[in-house]
Amino acid sequence: MRGPDYWKTRVELVEAWLDQLVRPAGAELAGGLWEAMRYSLLAPAKRVRPVLLLAVGETLDVEPERFRYAACAIECIHTYSLIHDDLPAMDNDTLRRGRPTCHVQFGEGTAILAGDGLLTLAFELLGTCPFLRAHPAIGIDVVRLLARYAGPQGMVAGQWLDMHTAAPTPSVEHVLNIHRRKTAALITAAVEIGGLMVEAPPAMIEALRVYGEAVGTAFQIVDDILDLTTPPERLGKTPGKDVQASKATYPRAVGLERAWADARAFRDRAVEAIRPWDTHGLLTSLAYLITERQA
Ligand code: IPE
Ligand code: IPE
Ligand code: MG
Ligand code: MG
Ligand code: MG
Repeated sequence: MRGPDYWKTRVELVEAWLDQLVRPAGAELAGGLWEAMRYSLLAPAKRVRPVLLLAVGETLDVEPERFRYAACAIECIHTYSLIHDDLPAMDNDTLRRGRPTCHVQFGEGTAILAGDGLLTLAFELLGTCPFLRAHPAIGIDVVRLLARYAGPQGMVAGQWLDMHTAAPTPSVEHVLNIHRRKTAALITAAVEIGGLMVEAPPAMIEALRVYGEAVGTAFQIVDDILDLTTPPERLGKTPGKDVQASKATYPRAVGLERAWADARAFRDRAVEAIRPWDTHGLLTSLAYLITERQA
């Protein structure tokens, strides 16, 4: 199974895991907090990062079950980043995953804490993962890798740069630096964690790193393009926000036509890097789907 069918079945699997693992134990005092966390987490979404993680496993014929906790941990971190990204102090967005944003629905204070809750829960999930508990040396590497890619050298740094770049025509190098950090870093984390958890050889891990960075960069270029070209009912968020906020986007730096060409060039770089290892063609087909997506 490849392509859209693979993606669809794995999204269903990941969403069942999220529903099971992200809920309070017993009757919780902080019910409203969990409600906000689950509201954003379980809203309809593409689940790109967990699906890529499972696909790395399946490339080496390892069953998805091994990745249950790690896949959920990565999606929790991603969802926390979206909740905070939408806050009035950041992108000030009102629509996310086809629903009012977390702070619109529950208030700013709860949204901030829902993000904090998802971020910290991610590391509890890793510490609970049966496979990582049985392989603590791998577990420590996974924790370090995820924290590094999500943190102030990775996604958090990218978000800060995004907020502090007001250049009318940003250089393409600067936009790429933002995109690599704010988006490609977490996507790279997903595939590299997959590599660590299947004990892939170092050359494959390096190929996964190149693949993740290139696919992740293509992913954010396409996100910037879709912000310009896609109606809200398909996008699930408010389009046109990047122009309105003078964001340093890829199309702003190079124009729409070259942005498409470069997204496809990054996809091709990813496909080329993974070719020797992509036994079932799964990672190649996902790179194409990610770049050709409509939302
Ligand atoms: C949105 O991420 C933020 C970016 C990094 C572009 P996704 O496009 O993966 O959003 P969901 O998870 O499907 O909602
Ligand atoms: C956000 O980039 C990347 C994150 C780390 C959340 P954007 O601000 O472009 O994402 P959207 O368009 O709001 O989903
Ligand atoms: Mg943003
Ligand atoms: Mg945003
Ligand atoms: Mg965007």
